[in-house]
Amino acid sequence: MRSSPKTFHVKSFGCQMNVYDGERMAELMAAQGLTAASDADSADLVVLNTCHIREKATEKVYSDIGRVRKAQAADGRKPMIAVAGCVAQAEGEEIVRRAQVDVVVGPQAYHNLPELVARAADGKAALDTDMPVLSKFGSLPRRRKVGPSAFLTVQEGCDKFCTYCVVPYTRGAEVSRPFAAIVDEAKALVDAGAREITLLGQNVNAWSGAEGGLDHLIRALDRIPGLARIRYTTSHPNDMTQGLIDAHRDVESLMPFLHLPVQAGNDRVLKAMNRSHTRDSYLRLIDRIRAARPDIALSGDFIVGFPGETEAEFTDTLSLVDAVGYAQCFSFKYSPRPGTPAADMADQIAPAVMEDRLARLQAALNRHQAAFNAATVGRTCQVLLERPGKLPGQLLGKSPWLQSVIVAGTGAIGELVEVEIASAGPNSLVAAPTIRAAA
Ligand code: SAH
Ligand code: SF4
Ligand code: F3S
Repeated sequence: MRSSPKTFHVKSFGCQMNVYDGERMAELMAAQGLTAASDADSADLVVLNTCHIREKATEKVYSDIGRVRKAQAADGRKPMIAVAGCVAQAEGEEIVRRAQVDVVVGPQAYHNLPELVARAADGKAALDTDMPVLSKFGSLPRRRKVGPSAFLTVQEGCDKFCTYCVVPYTRGAEVSRPFAAIVDEAKALVDAGAREITLLGQNVNAWSGAEGGLDHLIRALDRIPGLARIRYTTSHPNDMTQGLIDAHRDVESLMPFLHLPVQAGNDRVLKAMNRSHTRDSYLRLIDRIRAARPDIALSGDFIVGFPGETEAEFTDTLSLVDAVGYAQCFSFKYSPRPGTPAADMADQIAPAVMEDRLARLQAALNRHQAAFNAATVGRTCQVLLERPGKLPGQLLGKSPWLQSVIVAGTGAIGELVEVEIASAGPNSLVAAPTIRAAA
């Protein structure tokens, strides 16, 4: 027996879906009457919402558990520790054995967190890694207070089984939330302060409802009064329908930005990754998207050093990067994950080779990002102001192309302001004094 926690802190790692889940868990615990603590070191209940995508991400959980315990022990306290998210799903009881945590809850079962915490307080085992995806959303409290830019998970899971990736195992099969539930949550988010909503899914463009695909949903959300901007992430090239491409041409609130991971630029590697698209089909898709929305900013994910990747195959990735001209990207060294087919493939690449390729890839990506940012200088655009900047009088917001913009001397958080971009650095833009308020 131990006492029930009165304060909590949720710390999320990994992708935006985990950020969303972390917010929902916090709302759930607040609805139980617990108070949010300012940090993990002062909370009675610490929820670590974990990521399993690469080895480093996974190991971080264990070092974090140790760090929190040590910090609290210095004050004579012993927090209840709950491990949520994808490591919880992948490792289950192993975490209890390895780190003696109190609660283990998977990403599809966290609506049961209050009950699991109560069980742990009673000294009972509290592990839930079931996958009843839809019932989870039905049992979460209504959204009440959010920032100007909010996340909304509409799709979960992945059926693609890329040979390097754990997501199909940690998040389960592809499931779409029902249309009406999404529209309801979007309206609640707007009532709670959101001006922009980013629709989330591991394969968000695989979302489907009774009457159509993601484009149908986007067109419906576009009609919600007060919702100024819609984004979505992450998309798979094979689920990029013509209807969705057309939405980029037709729907004004759909922002001109698309995260469309390709992973590699060589067909043999793509096939070994089980990506089920080719270099050429990806490039042709990009052409069609740009034909519909010429100013669209493209983003992607890349993996270097996939097993068997030769130097020549890697240079195909570099040439693809030059062919597309991305506005921003994420790039990673391949990390073998237990249980995935690629982890057992021959010809694992040496760490030093991966380092070298990652550095060369990132140099190319940075060059394109700087060029994209520089090309926006002198343009007039709207910025959604999201938070205070570093200096007094400054606010930080996002351009339509998802660039961070520093705006001085005008507007308030939550406002869309029209500005002219005055200068561009590698990671952010500076806006000249506002011409006029846009909304
Ligand atoms: N569903 C999305 C995101 C998946 S995870 C998609 O298909 O794009 C985000 C990124 O992590 C992936 O796009 C990939 O680039 C990277 N990633 C996934 N597994 C990895 C691994 N084993 N090693 C290195 N990077 C990995
Ligand atoms: Fe992982 Fe591939 Fe699914 Fe993306 S599409 S989540 S990389 S298996
Ligand atoms: Fe990580 Fe799970 Fe997201 S493994 S990237 S938190 S889906």
